[in-house]
Parts: sequence; C-alpha cells; structure tokens
Amino acid sequence: MAGAAAAGGGWSSRTAFILAAVGAAVGLGNIWRFPTLAGENGGGAFVLVYIGFVVLLGAPLVLSEILLGRAGGEDAIGSVRNVARASGRSERWRGLGALQITSGFLILSFYCVVAGWVVNYILASGEDWFGALFAGDPFAMAFDGETQEQITGRMGALFGDPIRMIALHSAFMAITIWIVASGVTDGIEKAATWLMPAFFVLLVMVTIYGAFTGDFGRALSFMFTPDFSKLSPGVLNEALGQALFSLSLAAGGLLTYGAYVSKEVNLAPTAAMIAAADTAVAILAGLMIFPIVFAVGLDPAAGPALIFQTLPVAFSSMPAGALVGFVFFVLIFFAALTSSISLLEGPTAWVIDAFGLKRPSAAILVGLTAWLIGVACALGYSVWSDVRLLGFWDIFANTDILDTIDGFTGKIMLPLAALLVAVFVGWRADRQLVERETGLSGGAFVLWRFLVAWLCPIAVSVVLLFGLFPNLLG
Ligand code: TRP
Repeated sequence: MAGAAAAGGGWSSRTAFILAAVGAAVGLGNIWRFPTLAGENGGGAFVLVYIGFVVLLGAPLVLSEILLGRAGGEDAIGSVRNVARASGRSERWRGLGALQITSGFLILSFYCVVAGWVVNYILASGEDWFGALFAGDPFAMAFDGETQEQITGRMGALFGDPIRMIALHSAFMAITIWIVASGVTDGIEKAATWLMPAFFVLLVMVTIYGAFTGDFGRALSFMFTPDFSKLSPGVLNEALGQALFSLSLAAGGLLTYGAYVSKEVNLAPTAAMIAAADTAVAILAGLMIFPIVFAVGLDPAAGPALIFQTLPVAFSSMPAGALVGFVFFVLIFFAALTSSISLLEGPTAWVIDAFGLKRPSAAILVGLTAWLIGVACALGYSVWSDVRLLGFWDIFANTDILDTIDGFTGKIMLPLAALLVAVFVGWRADRQLVERETGLSGGAFVLWRFLVAWLCPIAVSVVLLFGLFPNLLG
C-alpha cells in the first residue's frame, strides 16, 4: 500500500486527529446552514429530528467511515477497494469511494464561494470596528449611522459584483490549497490545532454576550419547543442531508482522515466525540445567533441571509456590536477553513495515490479545478442568474448554480453514498475485520451493527425517496 499518508505524514496524536476531524465537521454547516434550516423549519421540531438523526445514523456512520479509512490505509477510493479485497468482495465497491470524492469536490467548489462571503463581512465589519476604535469608541454599535437598508444592502452589492465575489473566493481557495499542500502533519494538523481552540473560545464568548444582551429565553424556547405540525417529508430530508453534511460524512473527508489514524487509537469513543462536538457546536451556534436576532425583533426564518443580513442589523443596535460583529465573522472563517481543508484533502489524496503526483501539485490541480466551478457559482448571482443546471427537474427548477450543486450533493449524492457505506460496512465487509477496527464488543457491537446494517439503509432510503419524489404523498 503506497498510501496517501506516506505523502504527507499522519496524525501525530489522537488529540490531533480529533481536532482535525472536529475541524472538518464544524464549519459553515453548523453556523450558517443549521441555524438557517432550524429557523426556516420552525425551530424545535427540526432540532429534535436533527439530533435523532445524528445519534441513530450519523454517529454510527462516522465510526463506519473512519474505520474503513484506517483499515484501507489509502485515499477514499483505494481504501474501500482494499477493504473489499480483504473481504473477498467485488472491487467495484471502490465506486463508493469515487462517489464520495466527487461529492467532496463539488461541495468544495461552492463552499469556498460562501466562505468568500464570510471574508467580505470580515472586511466590512473589520473596517467598521477599526474605524470606531480609532475614533475612540471601541464599544460602538455596528455600522453606526447607517440605515437598515444600507446594512442589508451589503449582501446585494456583493452579489451584484462578480469580480469582488470571485476575488474573495479565490483568496479563500488559495489559503485552503496552501495548507493542504503543506502536508497532513505540517499543514492540516497544524491549522486545526491553532484554529479550533481559537474558534471555541470565540464561540463561547459571543454566546455569553448574546445570553446577556439578547433574548436568551425566547431563543431557548424557539429551539427546544417542538411544534410537530411543522414536520413534513421535506423537513426530514433537509434534516438528514444536514446531519450528513455537518458531520462531513459521505464526501470522502472522514474516510481520508481515517487513513492517517494510528492503529492504537480506539475508534468508537473517538467517533462519538466527533459527533457530539459537532452537534454541540451547532446547538451553541443557534444559542449564539437566535438571542441576538430576537433581541431586536427580527425574523429567525430569514433563510440564507440570516447571518449576513439579519445579524449585522441586530449588531447595529446592540452594545459593542461593531466589535462582536467582527469577532463573529472571524470565528466563522476559522470554522470554514478547517472544513474546506478536509474537502480538498479527499480528492487530493486520491490524485496523489492514483497518479503519483506530488502533494503540492495535486492540491493545486484539484483546488484550481474546483475553483473554476466556484467561479460559475459566483457568476450565478449576476451574469448567469438565469442558468438552471438541472432546470428540467422540478426540485431544481428554480435554483441558481450554487444552490443546484448544494441541493444535488446534499439531497441526493450524500444520502446515496451514506446508504452505500451502511450496506458495505454492515453486510459486505469482513465481520471480524470490522469488529476489530471498531474496538467494540458484545452488546455495544451488536447495537452499532444493528444501526449501521438495518436502521441506516432503511431510514436513508425512505428519506432519499421522498427527497427525489416530494409528491409521493400527494
Ligand atoms: N462539515 C462541514 C461543515 O459543516 C463541511 C464539510 C467538510 C463537509 N468536509 C466535508 C461536508 C465532507 C461533507 C463532506 O461546514
């Protein structure tokens, strides 16, 4: 086995692996997508279904993917092939790895565009806060003297300026490429060990700020009082797609990171920790954002504009809003970066293993190709706003380029790959090999295997079916 690890080192400790994996998991999915979806789908009911999916499907699948990676010891495609071979199964199972790598590549392409929006807001709120600081008022409210229209108008201005959007997206992609090119130990691990702790500190600080200055009680009841009339097959599909996306499942990230884990690490508790940390951050992000939104009487169901328009408006009438707004966007940036790294690492490891390229060349090649698709996504907000990639398909008839790629990967490719992982690990891979890798025994193994082999395939198939055919129930 050549192994991608050989081309970039492996994790230097269990802690390093956990930080990198939590870094992959915690990202725009937690701070942008989760609160947006919870806000749009009525809060409590969505949160409850989401947690159910994470516990019953997500966490068992996290363990499945990490163990496949470690047992296979290569990139996502090579690892699945190796495990299939060792289990006496068809090597065509490597298609599962190929599907995952393709998804990761596509997600990377639009992920960096959205991360570019975050950079835009770091610049805007940074300029705002430093201006206040030099004027002798470090605790000013955000965007003092601007009207609500002027503040929300920043997003429209960015969307109407493709050059600016592409410049910011390029900058973010360049940083991502640079870290991945530096290697697993010297790039990915180092970035995670600096950025993740900084992220957690900032997250807790802004949450405490929101709890004191915002409407924490209302946020709590919004997030934890389920209204079951809000549940529909569409909401279930959203929640499952979100759970897979947020845990970095089914798109090559964890499979690839798993290959860099040493044999001594006990995988089951590690997987549980990763899933728990990711979910805790999503909930904390809700508890950070909604008190601030409610404090100034804004709408939690604002959709994707929630953090880019609603929050800046809220910061404009809150104490020290300029500073907190700036910190808020910096913390999202840290989270997004440790995730985009994992998205780039999956296809990069494959290019290294399959074509023998050097790590820096592979990272640049993959990154530039994804960047090009990102350019199309960015143009989809202005000159190409009429383009409908899958316009013939009713569920994508009205979505722009970015939303189409996001929707197609999240609603279809990720569930499909998750289904295949569950079937492969639950039924096809050698039982002894699997049991040994999990480190589980007795009842714990039986329970885990039941969730992977039975519950995951059934639940994911049902949800996938409703995602593809939303009119199935009439
Ligand atoms: N989980 C990340 C987030 O929530 C995004 C991400 C990183 C991802 N790596 C992934 C999603 C692999 C799917 C697959 O922002």
